[in-house]
Amino acid sequence: SIVILDFGSQYTQLIARRIRELNVFSAVLPCTASLSEIQAYNPIGIILSGGPSSVYDADAPDADPKVLELGQPVLGICYGLQFIAHHLGGKVRPADKREYGHAEVIVEDAKTALFAGLPSHLHVWMSHGDEALELPAGFHRTAVTNNALAGIVNEDRKIWAVQFHPEVHHTPLGKELLSNFVFDICGAKGDWTPAHFIETTVAAICEKVGSDHVLCALSGGVDSSVAAVLVHKAIGDQLTCVFVNNGVLRKNEFAQVTQNLRDKLGLNLVPVDASDRFLAKLASVTDPETKRKTIGREFIAVFEDESNRIAEQTGGVDWLVQGTLYPDVIESSSVRGPSQTIKSHHNVGGLPERMKMKLIEPLRDLFKDEVRRIGRDLGMPEDILQRQPFPGPGLAVRILGEVTADRVAILQEADDIVVKEIKAAGLYSKVWQSFAVLLPIQTVGVMGDQRTYANTCAIRAVHSEDGMTADWAPLPYDVLKRISSRIVNEVRGINRVVYDITSKPPGTIEWE
Ligand code: XMP
Repeated sequence: SIVILDFGSQYTQLIARRIRELNVFSAVLPCTASLSEIQAYNPIGIILSGGPSSVYDADAPDADPKVLELGQPVLGICYGLQFIAHHLGGKVRPADKREYGHAEVIVEDAKTALFAGLPSHLHVWMSHGDEALELPAGFHRTAVTNNALAGIVNEDRKIWAVQFHPEVHHTPLGKELLSNFVFDICGAKGDWTPAHFIETTVAAICEKVGSDHVLCALSGGVDSSVAAVLVHKAIGDQLTCVFVNNGVLRKNEFAQVTQNLRDKLGLNLVPVDASDRFLAKLASVTDPETKRKTIGREFIAVFEDESNRIAEQTGGVDWLVQGTLYPDVIESSSVRGPSQTIKSHHNVGGLPERMKMKLIEPLRDLFKDEVRRIGRDLGMPEDILQRQPFPGPGLAVRILGEVTADRVAILQEADDIVVKEIKAAGLYSKVWQSFAVLLPIQTVGVMGDQRTYANTCAIRAVHSEDGMTADWAPLPYDVLKRISSRIVNEVRGINRVVYDITSKPPGTIEWE
């Protein structure tokens, strides 16, 4: 594998993704990882990421300089270059002219392996305020911009570094440069493919679990479904999947997911309709955080009841499958520190400790698009793999004010129209999410000759890479027009439709 040491750049995850796109496994570790933690990955090469600091800042992120002496090739990117210069006896100082954004690089040493096959002028993306002024002994310059140094190398020590960011799209030939590093310099094989991943993961699960019984809390979303199918491939009906209807799923979702996963994918699925339990607990709750916590708590209670029942039948359940993805793993160990809680997320968090079960997280090394590739290789239907994210607390966080069975039914109808029209327009997988929100606001309208006084519903559609930031999506007017006219005509209880044009930040994607 290629190990990427994270010095806190916003682009670190992108480095990992680019390398994986070359079918080479790459892992991101915090820069504070010990040498033995790094070596546990058997790296064939090490990449030092960019970072927001200056190497001279008192709290500058630092790594053990011995990573430069492990014998594997090293590529420093931006802060990584300054880290190398700083630790090997060069000099780094604030640049006279900071460089942010587009720049043109002139390759001076075309013979160096990193630039093999690349033109002598490269368009790149820069983002740095410091520059290396004096190179450490044994290094020479490989590339420059108008203003400054852009690349260095010490071929004897197998250390390369560039000042720009090859991992971002704004460096069009960046992927070729990374490819030169991982294949020509590090000797990667490029055999990390979905089939290979499935084969090794299935073998590892079999070995880990033996003849134990395993539970999975399915949500019907991409991550938990792919995780369940992988585990099922490994141990068959030793896996029981529990799918809970919390009363705030979308229209027909409970029946459809049950049918998809049980009948089409052959999972051993236990559907549990606990709608009444959840809705009873939600009565008169209007505060968003209380709603989220109420649903989270009730979910654990329902799941516990179910797993006790299953444990009695199977003689005990020791393992729980979770669809944790790599961005969450990186986030929780990031050098930037944990991010502030804006909303308490409800997945199955808290379950394993409480139930004293051991975890199986078959997707914890993967990004979302990789999960989809694996799912495709496992033969899963595209409508499961392309599903938009749906929050754990479901429609409850899209019904502002009290959640009642009636209001759920109204929103289910409106949401169903949004989904169908967005799909019909071929936009469903082009936007990150598109949905309806039911507001606790009634307005006056007129239908036929009758005065109406009914609910308002908001339409939300966003583009996003990862849900952390988002832009409101400019849906075509004719699509909005169809959605609006169908909702007010077909959904009893809604007489006005508005469109949410807020990005994140400052808005969040969900309204609660
Ligand atoms: P926000 O509203 O915080 O949402 O901008 C970001 C993304 O996360 C989804 N979301 C959740 N997902 N459990 C989840 O699994 C939750 O409790 C939850 N709350 C929000 C949301 O749909 C969006 O994609």
